[in-house]
Amino acid sequence: MAHVETIRWEGALPGKVRLIDQTLLPERETYLEIADLESMRDAIGRLAVRGAPAIGVAAAFGVVLGVQGLSARPAAEVVAAARAAAARLESSRPTAVNLAWGARRIVARVEREAAGGGDGRAVVAAALDEARATWTEDRVVCDRLGEIGAELLHDGAVVLTHCNAGALATAGSGTALSPIYRAVADGKKVAVIADETRPLLQGARLTAWELSRAGIDVTLITDSMAASVFSRRKVDAVFVGADRIARNGDVANKIGTYGVAILAREHGVPFYVVAPLSTFDPETPDGAAIPIEERAPGEVTHGALGPTSPTGVRVHNPAFDVTPARLVTGIVTEVGLILAPDKDKVEDALRRGGRI
Ligand code: MRU
Repeated sequence: MAHVETIRWEGALPGKVRLIDQTLLPERETYLEIADLESMRDAIGRLAVRGAPAIGVAAAFGVVLGVQGLSARPAAEVVAAARAAAARLESSRPTAVNLAWGARRIVARVEREAAGGGDGRAVVAAALDEARATWTEDRVVCDRLGEIGAELLHDGAVVLTHCNAGALATAGSGTALSPIYRAVADGKKVAVIADETRPLLQGARLTAWELSRAGIDVTLITDSMAASVFSRRKVDAVFVGADRIARNGDVANKIGTYGVAILAREHGVPFYVVAPLSTFDPETPDGAAIPIEERAPGEVTHGALGPTSPTGVRVHNPAFDVTPARLVTGIVTEVGLILAPDKDKVEDALRRGGRI
């Protein structure tokens, strides 16, 4: 199945990053060309590129953008610029750990290259090589998540999802939506119920767009309809992505996910998280330690039709919430399904994946 190409590097060195501008979907399919570090930081901050794996890849390319003009400089200068670029990108959004993972991966590679005696040109080339590998691996991992996750879907399954964890959120076929694409490609009939996902409507604008474009049966609901849908209609499973998974299996994902997990438990519906190992954070012991991004009040006070609330009203706008591990039926990763996740099982998966 040909998925939308969310992000890619264009050209050699110096090059640029081509991104689909997700702020304009579904009305316009427009691509941005990002040629410098600050433009990449801005694109991540305003969600032109969003979704944990996609911003991991964007950050990896962002570090390359930050150093690509320094080929003629000493290697140590390139390393220092890479570290500064990574720090700058990491400060753009706090919750999705893939962002820091992607940026730091490039820094580690340039440090190795410089330590091995590479000159500035070689170190910059290594940065691009590593960023391209990050992109390629994300695509391979998404397909693997699809294969493993599709085994959880029977012919005729109805899946509820929240936010967008599809191709638009990755460099490949997605996380939570990848098993759906795979199951449908295997000939199963799968129907998706997509929560619209207030306040930024990633479910309505992005999930409904990419599934419809792929010919997948999708029904859009508002977030407040989910409880009624669980009680009155058939929902066989919930599939969501994640922005950061703590060492004990607690899962941060788009605001509203926790509520969906509670509804799933109440109605006896399995709740699956689909995420690459790059979304796990071995340094974060539990969900309480996950930083939750607070975004601008205007995202809540203004809708597509203009103001939806009185001027100056106090707003609380956390972009993510944390679902405790006890509500998670299983986490689909590229090294297998972690059923009833806890610290020991998460650590075992991280060990098998070489993350710890
Ligand atoms: O604020 P966003 O749109 O970046 O939030 C995205 C999500 O919460 C996704 O569910 C998560 O990043 C997983 S994407 C594969």
